[in-house]
Amino acid sequence: MVGSGHEAKVTLAKQVVTGRLGDHPWDAEIIKDAAIVSDDGICKWIGPRDDLPDEYWAVDGGVESGCVVPGLVDAHTHLVFGGDRYDDFEKRSQGKSYAEIAASGGGIKRTVELTRNATWESLQDGLVRRAFQAKLAGTRLVEVKSGYGLEHDAEIRLLDAANSLLPHMPRTVTYLGLHAIPEGRTKEDYMDEVFRRTLPEIHKRKLADAVDIFVEDGYYNADDARRLAQAAKQYGLDLRMHVDQFGDHGGARLAAELGAKTADHLEYTGDDGIRALADAGVIPVLLPASVFGLGLSKYPDARKMIEAGLPVVLATDCNPGSSPTLSLPMVMAIACRYMKMTPMEALVACTRNAARALNLEHEFGTIEVGKRAAFHVLPEPDYRSLACWF
Ligand code: NIG
Ligand code: FE
Repeated sequence: MVGSGHEAKVTLAKQVVTGRLGDHPWDAEIIKDAAIVSDDGICKWIGPRDDLPDEYWAVDGGVESGCVVPGLVDAHTHLVFGGDRYDDFEKRSQGKSYAEIAASGGGIKRTVELTRNATWESLQDGLVRRAFQAKLAGTRLVEVKSGYGLEHDAEIRLLDAANSLLPHMPRTVTYLGLHAIPEGRTKEDYMDEVFRRTLPEIHKRKLADAVDIFVEDGYYNADDARRLAQAAKQYGLDLRMHVDQFGDHGGARLAAELGAKTADHLEYTGDDGIRALADAGVIPVLLPASVFGLGLSKYPDARKMIEAGLPVVLATDCNPGSSPTLSLPMVMAIACRYMKMTPMEALVACTRNAARALNLEHEFGTIEVGKRAAFHVLPEPDYRSLACWF
């Protein structure tokens, strides 16, 4: 027994990527033949195993692992929903577009219908099962959005479900009330409910850490986003925004104007938008699995964003429609191939930068003394295996 009276644990690995900063913003420290000591879920010591302090020598380190990297952080998911979208998937396989499928009864609205009709138990079961699958793929912290309720009670229920994930996985919760316009209501009427009823209740019950909005033709516009930004400020919530997914609508510039914490998607964002994000300090969250998932080929320009000095984040966008994946390594695999991010850039984007996008960099994102002992252990002794294998 060492330290706080809990059993200390020693993890041995041929290679450990601590993720601590190197000389360059995208470098991360790598230690060969390393040992990590954790106790009570907190990292207590890390270094070359030959330097392991005497007090830990008696602790059995078990079998040596190949490589240990910081636990992956998924900074953008729609993890809580009912039903499935296999009909959409089949239509897409026959060449129908996202917009065509949405117009013919599929899309977000279909999931809204299935989510409203789902029992509490089935919602929670699905959420926990998906979180467990994500954990197998290396995720140790997840952001969960609501957005498939689109009416007061249904959205509150999704936020309650998202919050209930905690015993299974650390999470942060985002209210995406402005995801689509609910069937049978005007936008004005629904937005009234969002601002007068749902947001005050979220604030009172501390149900979310951030708000989000889908800015796109047929969904919400710049003025709606301005109104949401005001409320976010009033309630002390971070602002996240789905922007420029299917066209350059000036979404990145809008996110910069509104002081958003993150601007997510950005497939169509051009040079001026990238510059605006950099000037305003908005973190870009890129979701290439949704491009792949929709069978499209226009990926966001990660290279230009990195050149502009932006701390690019990669996330799954896990949802039943555009991005049915729980695997951040799959996202990294796509980013390295189609966006020409290096394996190290992809790893930093899913760990250190992602934790920062969620305001949890003091606990997650790197392997450092005092932070959570949330690691991902790989069989291969080389971190590049993570993005290479898919
Ligand atoms: O991030 N863009 C809007 N929302 C999701 C898609 C949700 C869905 O298709 O159900 C996204 O891709
Ligand atoms: Fe999304």
